[in-house]
Amino acid sequence: MPAAEHLKVEQNEGVKLYADHVNPQWVRLLDLLEMNAQYTNCSAERLHTTDGRTILDFLSGYCVYNAGHNHPFIVEALRDELTLNAPSMLQSHVATLAGELAGRLCEKAGGRLSKVYFCSSGSEGVETAIKFSRAFTGRDGLLAARGAFHGLTCGALALMDHRFWSEGFGPLIPGVEFVDFGDLSALERQLATKKFAALILEPMQGEGGILIPEQDYLAKAQALCRKYGTLFVLDEVQTGLHRTGRFLAAHHYDLDPDMVILAKALSGGLVPVGAVLMTDGIYDSVYGSLRRAIVHTSTYSENSLAMRAGLATLEVLENEQLGPRALAMGEAFRERLQDALSEFEMVAQVRGMGFFTGIEFRSPRSLGLRLSFEAFHRVHPAMFGQMLVMRLYRDHNILTQICGNNFMVLKAAPPLNASEESLDHFVQSLAAVMDAVHSSKRFWQDALQLAARAVRI
Ligand SMILES: Cc1ncc(COP(=O)(O)O)c(C=O)c1O
Repeated sequence: MPAAEHLKVEQNEGVKLYADHVNPQWVRLLDLLEMNAQYTNCSAERLHTTDGRTILDFLSGYCVYNAGHNHPFIVEALRDELTLNAPSMLQSHVATLAGELAGRLCEKAGGRLSKVYFCSSGSEGVETAIKFSRAFTGRDGLLAARGAFHGLTCGALALMDHRFWSEGFGPLIPGVEFVDFGDLSALERQLATKKFAALILEPMQGEGGILIPEQDYLAKAQALCRKYGTLFVLDEVQTGLHRTGRFLAAHHYDLDPDMVILAKALSGGLVPVGAVLMTDGIYDSVYGSLRRAIVHTSTYSENSLAMRAGLATLEVLENEQLGPRALAMGEAFRERLQDALSEFEMVAQVRGMGFFTGIEFRSPRSLGLRLSFEAFHRVHPAMFGQMLVMRLYRDHNILTQICGNNFMVLKAAPPLNASEESLDHFVQSLAAVMDAVHSSKRFWQDALQLAARAVRI
């Protein structure tokens, strides 16, 4: 049997086992969307499948693959680390690699951020920010923005107003209030109550729809936080590590946050790692004495593979100048998208920064199109976007997704080393799909068939 055939049989068995023992609904959803491919190997933005296709990754695992898939430098650094046979998570020694990575992160982040707590996910980082801001301020309240995504553990989930994520999971942590992202008057009204330990914001909302704030919003929000004794905390789990061009999205606005949460791309796409950067004062409010030296910790925190992945990722991002590259190429990419999509009435806006781009759609004005869209939208508000995602994948070999809290926004967030040709292919492909949406009955018939199958499932 040829090697590829052998692999295919094994992978089919793997899919069955996954459906039996992990998440059958996920397998059904991928089948429905005709996206249940098996991948053999991946590099940069290119994903190779067992049936010989090459898919271009414009999702990047929700901003994990800033350095691309399986970057050879990161892979080699991890191999080297493994061959050392060094202690990885002894819990009884000084993890010097953690010191090295923390030093690099603080230097790159700048401002007053001089201490780091390491963890293994973005949600865990958000939990840390919640606990530490309460410890520092002695207040319980937490303020977050509507539409935000902060993770699915109980504390992080409490900072998200979309009920879809929290329904059925019982009471979350109390004391959370929400303001509209961008609304400074509402923010000041809330902060003036002086009950909030922290304002926790994504500087640019990802799942909320790739929302870029007004130029002065974040600086003014930070100033208001200082005025009322609330910590200004930035969740840069998606926007960090040069996704928007600069090392932090905060750097576009000259901010001086009290805490910054990083995760996703710091892993190099290979070993989970999260980091919460903070001021000395916040750190001391938690670990202020020998007795409290390990009051907040986690088994995998500071493990040497994760630290090595983080260090190697920073090296790649810096050596290959992927931030400045994304900043310049992202701008040109959005201009090309804008030009290619301007004739379509359902395209409302193309926006973003660096390689963090959103294409927002709106319901059509012309009658024929509106009737089809509305019928379809009534089945499920995410259906239209999913249909675009499916078409891009099936017909144009592009992997992407709509935003989790804003179904009318499609993301384009490729690895920061994606080629110019891949970016062009995305522009042409989306234009072709939008052309079908606006001119072909076939698109809407397919869409309604998909909706019918989804209802049956
Ligand atoms: C902005 C933001 N914060 C936090 C998280 C949670 O990160 P994780 O899935 O690693 O727990 C996510 C996940 O998508 C995110 O987008």
